[in-house]
Amino acid sequence: MSKIPVAVLGATGEVGQKFVINLQRHPWFEFTALYASERSAGKKYADALEYGRENSRWFCKEAPEKKVLDMTVLDVRDVQTKESSLFFSALPSETALEVEGKIAKQKPVVSTASAYRYFDDSFVYLPDVNESHADIIKQQQKGRGWKGFVVPQPNCTTIGLVMSLKPVHDEFELERVTMASMQSVSGAGYGAVRSWAEQRKVQGSELPAELEEFSQGIFEGNVIPYIRGEEEKVRKETLKLLGEFSSGKIKPAGFKIACKCNRVPVLDGHTESVFIETKKTCSVDKLKEAWKSYRGEPQKLALPTAPKQPIIVTDEIDRPQPRFDSNIEGGMVAVIGGVEANAFDKGFQYTVLSHNTELGAAKGAVLAAEYLYKIGLIK
Ligand SMILES: NC(=O)c1ccc[n+]([C@@H]2O[C@H](COP(=O)([O-])OP(=O)(O)OC[C@H]3O[C@@H](n4cnc5c(N)ncnc54)[C@H](OP(=O)(O)O)[C@@H]3O)[C@@H](O)[C@H]2O)c1
Repeated sequence: MSKIPVAVLGATGEVGQKFVINLQRHPWFEFTALYASERSAGKKYADALEYGRENSRWFCKEAPEKKVLDMTVLDVRDVQTKESSLFFSALPSETALEVEGKIAKQKPVVSTASAYRYFDDSFVYLPDVNESHADIIKQQQKGRGWKGFVVPQPNCTTIGLVMSLKPVHDEFELERVTMASMQSVSGAGYGAVRSWAEQRKVQGSELPAELEEFSQGIFEGNVIPYIRGEEEKVRKETLKLLGEFSSGKIKPAGFKIACKCNRVPVLDGHTESVFIETKKTCSVDKLKEAWKSYRGEPQKLALPTAPKQPIIVTDEIDRPQPRFDSNIEGGMVAVIGGVEANAFDKGFQYTVLSHNTELGAAKGAVLAAEYLYKIGLIK
C-alpha cells in the first residue's frame, strides 16, 4: 500500500519530537511536512533544534533519521492542507484552537492539545476505552461545515486513571473514585525538563539567567501540590470518557470523583494512587482478572502501535515505579500494582502508572489515528 502523507504541527517541541520518532518508520504513515513557530520556521530541523550541539533541544533517546534532520521547518501560520491527508498537532493550546480549526475545514487533525477537548461535538478519544463515541465526529463535521475533524487526546493524567477504571466500571459499576497524582516534570513541557536538568547541575549555586523564569517551579527535592486546571480536567474527562453515547449525545458516567494533582521530581511517567468503591460485589482477585483479561478495539484490529494488552497488573506491592515501569510495552500500557481491599464499603485501592509522553501524548495519538484510518475516517 502507498503510505498516507501526514504533517506534524509543533514538531520541535517535546511532544512533536516524539511524533517524529513514532512516525519516521511507521508502516502506514509518512510525514511530508514539519511545522513550528516563526522561531524555527525556515531552518533545517537539525538547526532549529541545534541537534548534536551543546545547547541541543533534542531530548529523545532515539535519534531522528537524516532525511528528517534535513527537512525545512515550516511556519504554522502558513499551513497548507493540500499535500497531507492527516495532521498531528502538538501545539500549545492557544495556538491550536485557531490552527486546528483552520485545517479541519479540509482535513483530519489528531491532537495532543486541549483546545477542542471540552466542546460537546468533540470526540475525545482514548484508544481501548471509548471507540463507541466515534460517531460524534459526524456531528462536528455537520455542525461546523467541516470536511475534516479534530480528535483531541485526553489529558495525560486522565489517561492512566481511565484505563484502569474502564474494565472495573464495565463489570462492577463504580460508585465513587478518589485519585491523588504524582506527575512527572516532562508533563510540563520542554522548558520544565531543561530547567530541572539544569537545576540538578547547578544546585546550590545561582541559576543561569535564562532559567530565571522557571526558578519559581523548583522541581528538585520538592513536591508542587498544584497544577493549574488539572483537577477539573481529570474529573470532567473521566466522566465523559466513561459515559454512554446514545441519541447523538454522551451522557457522562454517574459516579462521584475527587482528585488532587501534584508535580514531583520524576522525569517521565505519571503515578496515581486510586481509591474506588464499586456498586456490585467485587474482590481483589476479580479486579485483577478484569484488568488482565481486558482487550479493546486496537488489540482486536491488531493496530501497529497497539500493545498486546492495554493493562499490565503486577503482584508486587511496591510497584509500579516510574523509573522501572514507565517504558513497559513501549510506554503504551497502564501498569497497575498494590491492589488491596480497604475499609470502605466495596472499597479497593491501587497504584496506576502511565507514560505521559508516550501513551499520554504522541504515541497514543498515533494509535488513535491508526484506529480512525482503519474505520475509514482518514483517507
Ligand atoms: N508534555 C507532555 O507530557 C504533554 C502530554 C500531553 C499533551 N501535551 C500537550 O501537547 C502540546 C505540546 O506540548 P509540549 O510539551 O510538546 O510543548 P513544547 O515543548 O513547549 O512545544 C511546543 C511546540 O509548539 C510550537 N509553538 C509554540 N508557540 C507557538 C506559536 N505561537 N505558534 C506556532 N507554534 C508554536 C513550538 O515551536 P518552536 O520550537 O518554534 O517554539 C514547539 O514546536 C501542548 O498543548 C500540551 O498541553 C503535552
